Amino acid sequence: MPLCHGNQDGRRLAAVGRMDESEGLAMSSVNILYRQLGVSDIETDMLDAFNRYQEVKKCWRKQNNEWILIDNHFIEDWDDAKKKKLAALYLPSIIKRGGTVCGAFDKDKLIGFFALAGNFIGSRQQYIWLISLHVSYEYRRKGIGKELFLRCVDAAKKSGAEKLYISAHSAQESQAFYCAMGCVETEEIIPELYAAEPCDVHMEYALSKETTQPAF
Ligand SMILES: CC(C)(COP(=O)(O)OP(=O)(O)OC[C@H]1O[C@@H](n2cnc3c(N)ncnc32)[C@H](O)[C@@H]1OP(=O)(O)O)[C@@H](O)C(=O)NCCC(=O)NCCS
Repeated sequence: MPLCHGNQDGRRLAAVGRMDESEGLAMSSVNILYRQLGVSDIETDMLDAFNRYQEVKKCWRKQNNEWILIDNHFIEDWDDAKKKKLAALYLPSIIKRGGTVCGAFDKDKLIGFFALAGNFIGSRQQYIWLISLHVSYEYRRKGIGKELFLRCVDAAKKSGAEKLYISAHSAQESQAFYCAMGCVETEEIIPELYAAEPCDVHMEYALSKETTQPAF
């Protein structure tokens, strides 16, 4: 069975946000504000209300060179300690190393974010790694993940990288999202990222030359 079917051409997806140039912010149709974050913007309680909850029922696995969907029932969630560590250490360290972190906010509440690495990886240094992309449970299926992905693509294009590299959760719904964005299985696996998450589906997204919207 192919991993991705249906609408795979995320590059043709229209951006759903509009830029408010006076404040450098963009507002989507559901009044969500998107903002690139500096280290000083990240408070240690910023993720306290973030709900990572995901009930996984089926996951993609490659067997005999074929992708199959297997039953695999478990819950993904972040406890308070994990959320504090992400806000206090992990996200600031990505920015300090030249990466990009962008948040989606409902008023002052962080309800989605992506983190993009600042360095290139791969045999030809062709990839830039999308480290993390999450939308809080209550805000999913409103186009916020797509908007964050498009902003990540724009930031990645500005870096000059050829492709995004995504070590993506193998859950059916996570894969449905990345396939809808136009991601495909990688041509090359990064051994360190595979060793860290061997059950993930390693995906890539070719960054075209033209920019779809101003990034920030
Ligand atoms: C994956 C995730 C970031 C998607 O964010 P989102 O805001 O819910 O996604 P969007 O509303 O922008 O969806 C865009 C498209 O992706 C696909 N999609 C998204 N969620 C889907 C789901 N649960 N089932 C099937 N398709 C889905 C659809 O094609 C959707 O378009 P549509 O709503 O017009 O049908 C979010 O669901 C999430 O954080 N999930 C848990 C964590 C996770 O899986 N993160 C990625 C780990 S690598």
